[in-house]
Amino acid sequence: MEKKDPQHQDQLFFSDDERHGLYKTIFNRRDVRGQFKPDPIPDDVLSRVLYAAHHAPSVGFMQPWNFVVVRSQQVKQNVHSAFVEANDKAADLFETEKSKTYRSLKLEGILESPVNICITCDRQRTGPNVIGRTSMKEMDLYSSVCAVQNFWLAARAEGLGVGWVSIVERKALKEALAIPSDIVPIAYLCVGYVSHFFDKPELETAGWLKRTPLDDLLYFDQWGEQRNTEEDTLVSQVVDDKHFPGEW
Ligand SMILES: Cc1cc2nc3c(=O)[nH]c(=O)nc-3n(C[C@H](O)[C@H](O)[C@H](O)COP(=O)(O)O)c2cc1C
Repeated sequence: MEKKDPQHQDQLFFSDDERHGLYKTIFNRRDVRGQFKPDPIPDDVLSRVLYAAHHAPSVGFMQPWNFVVVRSQQVKQNVHSAFVEANDKAADLFETEKSKTYRSLKLEGILESPVNICITCDRQRTGPNVIGRTSMKEMDLYSSVCAVQNFWLAARAEGLGVGWVSIVERKALKEALAIPSDIVPIAYLCVGYVSHFFDKPELETAGWLKRTPLDDLLYFDQWGEQRNTEEDTLVSQVVDDKHFPGEW
């Protein structure tokens, strides 16, 4: 077999189709709550998505994650009960008008999705000193979040919906899944095929919040230093691209 040249153009750059596929995945990913179908997820599909998660970057390559694959209806029911309790408390935190909207939102698909997956972080996995975690101790938690995002995107590329459920007390979630005290649950994900994917975040459609224009979030050199389209060509490019990927 011919040996791959790591500096060959095909190795350095992806083809247009490959790039389109990646952006399509990113921009068509949604948080799914209400559109799950009960169809089983074939093992080969779930295995690929789990591999994508396992190939996330991690601080010091510590790979602090585990994946708890939940298929038991009883375990799901226990997590769902914990969600209902936390969600009732949460609804009261928003003022009257928003509380009404809040209560109208569906914020999980625990029981309807065929598989739930909890991605965790073992902060002690490779001992107390980790390359890259010496100053900012939370880098291991962020690594597990990277695994979550890889999982979410790969799932979308496979036609699977994913919904992240965080409205649950950590203690209750750990109890439901028998997670040891030194392991941190990072994300509880509902996973399954769906009837459809929405074009926009459901919270945007419900009028909860709008997507912030990217140029409002750009600072230059120092926090708070904004530039307008005349002052910086990147700002004008970002403004021009506001419908990206659109017809790109
Ligand atoms: C850390 C995190 C926690 C979230 N927790 C919940 C949740 O408990 N329930 C829910 O319905 N959506 C949850 N979401 C989904 C967000 O509401 C959603 O990502 C956002 O509204 C944008 O929509 P999109 O993911 O469809 O683009 C969570 C997302 C993240 C990143």
